[in-house]
Amino acid sequence: MMNNLDDLKKIQELDPTGMLKAEEDFYEQLIEAQNIAKNADLLKLNSCEFKGVAILGMGGSGFSADIIKTLVADEIKVPVEVVKGYDLPAFVGKGWLVVAVSYSGNTEETISALNQAIGRDAYILIECSGGKLKDLAEKSGYSTLNIPSGLQPRGAIGYLFFPVYLAMDTLGLIDIDESDVKEALDLIKEKASIYNRKTLTTANPAKQLAVKIGDRLPIIYGTEGIYSALSYRLKCEINENGKTPCWWNNFSELNHNETVGWERLSGITSSFILIAFRDPEAHQKMKTRIEVTLGQIKSNVAEIVEIPVEGHSKLAKALSAMYLGDIASVYLALLTGVDPTPVVKIESLKAELAKLD
Ligand code: F6R
Repeated sequence: MMNNLDDLKKIQELDPTGMLKAEEDFYEQLIEAQNIAKNADLLKLNSCEFKGVAILGMGGSGFSADIIKTLVADEIKVPVEVVKGYDLPAFVGKGWLVVAVSYSGNTEETISALNQAIGRDAYILIECSGGKLKDLAEKSGYSTLNIPSGLQPRGAIGYLFFPVYLAMDTLGLIDIDESDVKEALDLIKEKASIYNRKTLTTANPAKQLAVKIGDRLPIIYGTEGIYSALSYRLKCEINENGKTPCWWNNFSELNHNETVGWERLSGITSSFILIAFRDPEAHQKMKTRIEVTLGQIKSNVAEIVEIPVEGHSKLAKALSAMYLGDIASVYLALLTGVDPTPVVKIESLKAELAKLD
């Protein structure tokens, strides 16, 4: 299976700003993120009783909120609200911890919702690599998780998600098991040694997934919980890195509507590829739902690919399954001769909106 994914010179040419390198360094990012969390000054928040946690963020930064919400759902005793937009819900205010996550520090929706939180006297934690949020944090003395700049937000997911997750442990909102962290980090280290550019396609599941997607339109199916967040993440990664349209949905909600929609237009859907996550420890009812549904849809799509989920802890499962998809989306760009880094449509819209300020 020789293709341009095994041609290191070609990869270098197509990826001058190093999106693949950012993915290959995911393990190192997580290790550095642990240090950022450990060294962060959270004293102002340390002995607070929080009524709830609202995590604000858009796109690659907002994904931190999605993954954290699903990771902590089984144990956290207060509500976790994900805010992806300009406005805070009315119930978020005094006594809530509001975490504003923006890689650039300049995302206007996040800044708007943060200003509302400040106006309502919420406890504030900011995570950014610079921009207006960094200025605000310095000026007003808010607790801050300062992360390194110079990457695309989506390529900085280790820096974005992990310090906030670990800070929630420091602040007593959750109790992270150290053995889960070790399992996750060990698994990511092992996967990095397999998914990197030097491993040929024949032995590299990330390159293989990219090849399977190729010119087909991917549809990602997750399940409520971590795989919902991961499905959405994979969809966004395929959009932004692979410059490819992609849609997603969740079991079991899709069993109540979307499955029926596969009955028409099979001439079009025959060039789709369906990607689903397979967790061997899923509830039997969920396994049956997935098995029966994929059987029902099989003849309407070109191929069904199941991503085998590895690990035992939720953290290890989430990070390793996300990692495969993230790096595969970069390989998809390279396979199709595209630079994975630029997001021209996002940048030009932001520039247009900035003219209104
Ligand atoms: C670009 C990307 C985007 C940004 C989003 C918000 O790589 O992933 O989805 O994350 O436009 O910008 P930030 O993360 O700077 O707040």
